[in-house]
Amino acid sequence: MPNPFEDHARKRTVREKWNTPILEWLYEKWGEKYLYLGLPGPEAYDIKLWAKMIEKVIAFEITDDTRDNPRENFERLCTNLTLMKLPHNVYHGYLEDVVLWKKDLDEREFKIDKFVTLFNLDFCNSITGKVPTPDGGKCRRFEAIREIITIQRALFRTTGVSKFVMLITALDAFHLKEMNRFIAKRDLPSEIRTAVSREHAVKLPVLIPCQISNLYHNTELLRLFMFDFLRGCFAGQNIKSFFLPAVRFQGRTKWSPMIHLCVVCQMEGIESAQVVDEQSAGDFVGMDMITAKDGGLTEDSPNPTTLLTNSWVVR
Ligand SMILES: C[S@@+](CC[C@H](N)C(=O)[O-])C[C@H]1O[C@@H](n2cnc3c(N)ncnc32)[C@H](O)[C@@H]1O
Repeated sequence: MPNPFEDHARKRTVREKWNTPILEWLYEKWGEKYLYLGLPGPEAYDIKLWAKMIEKVIAFEITDDTRDNPRENFERLCTNLTLMKLPHNVYHGYLEDVVLWKKDLDEREFKIDKFVTLFNLDFCNSITGKVPTPDGGKCRRFEAIREIITIQRALFRTTGVSKFVMLITALDAFHLKEMNRFIAKRDLPSEIRTAVSREHAVKLPVLIPCQISNLYHNTELLRLFMFDFLRGCFAGQNIKSFFLPAVRFQGRTKWSPMIHLCVVCQMEGIESAQVVDEQSAGDFVGMDMITAKDGGLTEDSPNPTTLLTNSWVVR
């Protein structure tokens, strides 16, 4: 990358005003501390904020070659988690590399033996970027998410735990080839197809000028892409999902628009029929996006816990 993370007001808004009420509500409902898997960054602001609700951390942090000590962020994160007295396993390297190669840069085997109940996949870059695979090929970054969901399936079988929440943040930008593949998909739900066609017709993606790798920007298309991809992954593993409205916010610079999704999920056993999602694709398409600003969420934002209370998640 490299991309040393610096906190800022919009990120704090997402974390404190959107994520925290959701996590507190689910924590109360599920009655268990979270097993966290994600990208906390060296200062672990998210974990510090949610520490009373977390029992264990599985984290990833990359090497930063711009620093005298490229391992500094990784080491700082380990120190912070130790100071918080939280059991942790921090892998060195890109999450997608560690997950796909099953080992980190220090040759530590990647292994999870408990069902993850809180994912904070707080990516700084685009989820349509390419990453190398162990067979010598390349795949898109989001394929690592599919792999993680497959691992969750196996853990559900061995642990019986079934509920989890996934927070996912990414650069609000995509590679055109991947977006065109999505737009051309034949099996898109009709509401997504209509929304994609409308968006594509009236508002073509715009190139983000400062990016090295030809990244394009259209928040609505990316929101639909992410929903369709995640729904597909979840359906493939018989997971029922409830998507909250997407949140957009400006990252640290004007070249870093960000998009954030929160999805509450429940695994169904193999004995149950294929899940039928009570939240339809049309429901998601119809949800207005929320904007996180310096001083808070925009005034017309819904209360996330009201949305949860009105969903199947309360059952
Ligand atoms: C956005 S920051 C984390 C913010 C934190 N979750 C919070 O809420 O304050 C992401 C951190 O993960 C690291 N990072 C970004 N993408 C990564 C990836 N794909 N794999 C591993 N680490 C990554 C970055 O270096 C950075 O320290």
